[in-house]
Amino acid sequence: MDRLIYWAKKLGPVFLIVSIFAYAIPRTRKLSKYRNALLACRAFLQGTTLVTTRPVSVRIAPTAICNYRCLFCEIHKDNILYPKRSKNEITLEHIRNYEGVLEEAYNLSFYGGSEEPLVAKEFGQIVAHMKKKFGTKLMVNTNASLMKGDVLDSMVEHGFDYIIVSYHAGTTDGYRAIMTGKIEKVDTNLAALRDLKAARGKRKPVVAFNFALQRLNADEYEAILEKAVNLGADHVIVNRYYGGRNKLQDQNVSYEYDIAAGNAVLDDIYSKARDMGMKLEPAKPDYWRQPAESVHWDDENIDTTIQCHLPWSHLHFNPVLDRANSHFVGVCNRAELFKVDYARLNISTAEKADKIWNHSLLKHLRETVNKGCDSINPLCKFCKNNQREALRNVDAALYAAKRDQAVEAFFQQYNSKITPEIIEGLEVLVDNPHSEEKFQEKLGELNTLEIAEKRQLDEALDETALARMG
Ligand SMILES: C[S@@+](CC[C@H](N)C(=O)[O-])C[C@H]1O[C@@H](n2cnc3c(N)ncnc32)[C@H](O)[C@@H]1O
Ligand code: SF4
Repeated sequence: MDRLIYWAKKLGPVFLIVSIFAYAIPRTRKLSKYRNALLACRAFLQGTTLVTTRPVSVRIAPTAICNYRCLFCEIHKDNILYPKRSKNEITLEHIRNYEGVLEEAYNLSFYGGSEEPLVAKEFGQIVAHMKKKFGTKLMVNTNASLMKGDVLDSMVEHGFDYIIVSYHAGTTDGYRAIMTGKIEKVDTNLAALRDLKAARGKRKPVVAFNFALQRLNADEYEAILEKAVNLGADHVIVNRYYGGRNKLQDQNVSYEYDIAAGNAVLDDIYSKARDMGMKLEPAKPDYWRQPAESVHWDDENIDTTIQCHLPWSHLHFNPVLDRANSHFVGVCNRAELFKVDYARLNISTAEKADKIWNHSLLKHLRETVNKGCDSINPLCKFCKNNQREALRNVDAALYAAKRDQAVEAFFQQYNSKITPEIIEGLEVLVDNPHSEEKFQEKLGELNTLEIAEKRQLDEALDETALARMG
């Protein structure tokens, strides 16, 4: 979508004239996703709030649980707060129920929140269905520990497009320490994928390793690159670790705290990869530029040149931890907008998908996302702040406070203008369901519960003691 918008902007009025002809493109399995993307781009450029197009990209979390406990991941928080949560595993039937937002999508990605997509037992069938019926480009972000048997077979057979494998350490000990699993199992699966592709003469799925650099895995890069070469990865994505509510929270592992050291490691990684002939993404090092002490927050320091297209192009379905059959729905990573019960909300056709895609909340977002400083909505204003990304890594508490305020103010603004329509299975949120306040509240409840349980146990023991005495 970004590339399409780049060219559309370059062509200017010519694009707007030519793209009218996209309406004439027949809605066939092969062509409708191109038709939809062109028309969505047109709607974005014209600032249309009530759209006739559907999402161009969709992301779905196929479950709400994970088989790993990576130190850098927020899974620990989820496991403490909701240890007995429903798996919320997506089946082929659920995917059919979402077809109204899926049928014209150019790509569908499987991941979201802290979960492992391949835990979903019908993953292989979902892949076969989406490829046969719509020919959608498919992507997954996985730890690859469950990528074997029928799932692996289906991915190769149906030309699954892109697999990003979390591979944040390359040695047995490093992997066990940071990602808490057995690297040998993952390597066996990756070798099987490499061999199956070779045996069937297939180029897909394209495989990338994701390596998020931080202080604790800086000395793992050689092993990661060697494994990438041996296991047939197409490229390695060199990412930066980002801060969060995880097991590394208090250890200042981000190189934001020592950017010279971080940038030196980046240089070593790129030089080694060149020697080994392994492609990296991005092609040039994305250096740390801003030292932690220079991050100062100012609400008004926003980049108004950013024109965000996500309300016209994207929809995600993220894990819900406190209810069965549910997803949080939103258009970007800054906020969840709805909580849906997919056993009750039917969006199986394009018309029914309007319940979400043309909901008054999304229309409000489209109306206010790309406005100037005075009339941009509070959520997008927070998102476009020039210091936002840096703040996240160096002051998680302030970042969370600013984000939670922005989300709440966004919903207040919407509710002051519009009364949300009542739709079965669709709840419009009023604030951030993952806010720091709610997190602390839930922790408090757990502590109270634990204390109550302990007191009950103590009382029971006392009664036993009394009975024994009596
Ligand atoms: C949360 S995971 C979920 C998908 C899957 N379980 C996996 O590990 O690939 C999504 C991606 O974010 C990455 N990730 C998680 N926490 C991170 C952090 N603090 N910094 C950078 N990347 C992180 C993961 O490694 C993974 O590639
Ligand atoms: S990063 Fe992925 S594999 Fe690791 S615990 Fe989180 S969700 Fe699981």
